[in-house]
Amino acid sequence: MKLSAHRRALALAGTAVAALLAGAVPAATAEQATVAAPDIPVANVKQHLADLQSIASANGGNRAHGRTGYKASIDFVKAKLDAAGFTTTVQQFTYNGSTGYNLIADWPGGDPNQVVMAGSHLDSVTSGPGINDNGSGSAAILETALAVSRSGYQPTKHLRFGWWGAEELGLVGSKYYVNNLPATERAKFSGYLNFDMIGSPNPGYFVYDDDPVIEQTFKNYFAGIGVPTEIETEGDGRSDHASFKNVGIPVGGLFTGASRVKTSAQVQKWGGTATAFDRCYHSSCDTTSNINDTALDRNSDAVAHAIWTLSGTTTQPPGTVFENTADVSIPDNGSAVTSAVTVTGRTGNAPSNLPVAVNIVHTYIGDLQVQLVAPDGTAYTLKAYGTGGSADNINTTYTVNASSEVANGTWLLRVQDNAAVDTGYINSFKLTFP
Ligand code: TRP
Ligand code: ZN
Ligand code: CA
Repeated sequence: MKLSAHRRALALAGTAVAALLAGAVPAATAEQATVAAPDIPVANVKQHLADLQSIASANGGNRAHGRTGYKASIDFVKAKLDAAGFTTTVQQFTYNGSTGYNLIADWPGGDPNQVVMAGSHLDSVTSGPGINDNGSGSAAILETALAVSRSGYQPTKHLRFGWWGAEELGLVGSKYYVNNLPATERAKFSGYLNFDMIGSPNPGYFVYDDDPVIEQTFKNYFAGIGVPTEIETEGDGRSDHASFKNVGIPVGGLFTGASRVKTSAQVQKWGGTATAFDRCYHSSCDTTSNINDTALDRNSDAVAHAIWTLSGTTTQPPGTVFENTADVSIPDNGSAVTSAVTVTGRTGNAPSNLPVAVNIVHTYIGDLQVQLVAPDGTAYTLKAYGTGGSADNINTTYTVNASSEVANGTWLLRVQDNAAVDTGYINSFKLTFP
């Protein structure tokens, strides 16, 4: 080992603090482009419905306001969102002498002054499990929220999801939420999208006639898959969007029909029979058997399309750089230290040829183990301890096959000095995304 440069570590201490305060530097500017919404797996939506059915079955056959099945439904949805990285809030209110609950889930990031919200009522009537009304909307927005997380979507606008209590008793939960929003908060909404009954067993494809941009966004989706739509007329104001519309927030939504009977013209258009869109509406037979899978699938994909399209999107040009230039001193023969970069705005996984630029100042690089640590904790060894001999410094770009790693998140350069005497510091760490 070389006996040199012990003084350097001391000299560096001051600069390291200053550089840490400066933090990581995202070096690229974003450019606007449209990212397509992912396909929402209908099997996942159906699994959420099966879980809500189980909750009802275990709680007297319903998920109604003031009953144990309602709170169990809230807990079920909240746990999935918490695990996916949402910031969740349970809002309590009292109605008819019982405690009611709204669940609000915010996706971190986006412009806080431009909020796009999707909501669905999570309560059922007391007479049944409420799988179409409204497990269907609740499950579709839940799976869309999980898809936002899976894809690491970083939209321009801020995304929020809501599950309302006591809709069946008069839009009680959504009114409570809106009434408790200060005017300054209401003004931040770009739009509210409502999904109440979107898997009716004899479905129609209805789009709410409200905000023209939201309405057109839904119509474009259905036009793209060749499915004709009609304007929803089975009761304007009969769901939670009315609470938002009443305070001037632009609203829209989807609906596949309740107790009204499908006309012969609608049978021509959509198939099915000239009977009620949902013959189990507000009945005990609104179970997992009361769902048309095709309608649930198309509407779930339409939910995602609208959320992606209306929230805007930021994609990055090739060569986007995430770099941390803060110096991190490496303790001699000590524990590992890290330098972090936070990758945002990417979709999907990292590339199979991720360039990892490492600049380490050190007086004997054979001492060092150098690793790249992915956001999920997987470590990729860039340089093993005992290799590189007595050379000074590492200033090289390693290529890592990171294709099994989600790109967005915090990546670390982890360095450990495993032998006494020679020392140094991490000078910079840089990831370049293609
Ligand atoms: N949950 C609503 C209700 O019981 C269902 C409904 C009926 C609906 N008509 C609607 C939802 C029109 C949206 C639009 O009233
Ligand atoms: Zn409903
Ligand atoms: Ca050493």
